[in-house]
Amino acid sequence: MRSVLSHTAPVFLLIVGLLYTGCSKKTDTAAAPGTPPGSVKIGFLVKQPEEPWFQFEWQGAEAAAQKHQFQLVKLGVQDGEKVLAAIENLAASGAQGFVICTPDVRLGPAIVAQAKVRGLKVIAVDDRFVGADGKFMTDVPYMGMSASAIGQDQGKALYAEMQRRQWPVEETGVCVVTFEELDTARERTDGAITALKAAGFPADRIFKTPQKTTDVPGSFDAVNVLLTQKPNIKRWLVSGMNDTAVLGAIRATEQRGLDAEHVIGVGINGTDCIDELRKAKPTGFFGSMLVSAPQEGYRTAEMLYQWVKDGTTPPPDTRTQGILITRANFEEVLRREGIIK
Ligand code: GLA
Repeated sequence: MRSVLSHTAPVFLLIVGLLYTGCSKKTDTAAAPGTPPGSVKIGFLVKQPEEPWFQFEWQGAEAAAQKHQFQLVKLGVQDGEKVLAAIENLAASGAQGFVICTPDVRLGPAIVAQAKVRGLKVIAVDDRFVGADGKFMTDVPYMGMSASAIGQDQGKALYAEMQRRQWPVEETGVCVVTFEELDTARERTDGAITALKAAGFPADRIFKTPQKTTDVPGSFDAVNVLLTQKPNIKRWLVSGMNDTAVLGAIRATEQRGLDAEHVIGVGINGTDCIDELRKAKPTGFFGSMLVSAPQEGYRTAEMLYQWVKDGTTPPPDTRTQGILITRANFEEVLRREGIIK
């Protein structure tokens, strides 16, 4: 059965956190004789270690390691070669499993095969493995965003801010930076488009532009192409699969002289836009759908630990929700979520 973690308010995020802590305590004191403390070792492998999102996931995983006294090995795996080398090294050093956000979801079958040969347990986080048949590998436990719902909330937030500013729809365009080869990314941007259309935004003023790489330059280039094609649109709503995608778009609009008065961007993650939201002068980056990266890191690492130690199989599919942060509330919300001090 699909387990859904519904976070409708920051307080709820904290409650979920406490529940996790409560649950893990229960398992810890369970009568079943487990591996002695300290002898469990797990890896936490991420595709883009430079992205704050993944650093916050690591931070959460470290908290779980501290609580349960297991060893945590954090590794950046930017490509398939690095993934396979990491699996080999983990096995050689006595690890029993790993959590991974893979650099390519189609590596799923190879990752599972290698892990099996070496007796390692695997949990996928953020980006769900895709099998040779093009379908999700539902036999690998997964934890990630409720991508479509979060995308829809992003679309609703964009529309609400446009209405608040009383922008005429006929002068406004929607720029959607896409990365459709990644399912969670496509579900998010499709969700945003669905919500904008449902709110009444005309479909023929919504423009997708694909990013070749999932970093700021990749999005910057994609949006430059779109802005060149649409020189007459002077007001933009910006959607993308994460903060980085929206940040690249904002830099591209700025280069065309479009400032915060003419651009409303809403990201996803809430972790990679902190410096942006702290800028003294507002930019077109209006806000972000915050999802708790530390909580995802904590929970996946803890699930793996309990799987190794007690044989507790993780739920097959666990989803997290998002909440909107803007310049008005981000310091307070991020502090409450333990993302900033
Ligand atoms: C993908 C993105 C990350 C982050 C995670 C969240 O991996 O690349 O920036 O949004 O999803 O699940």
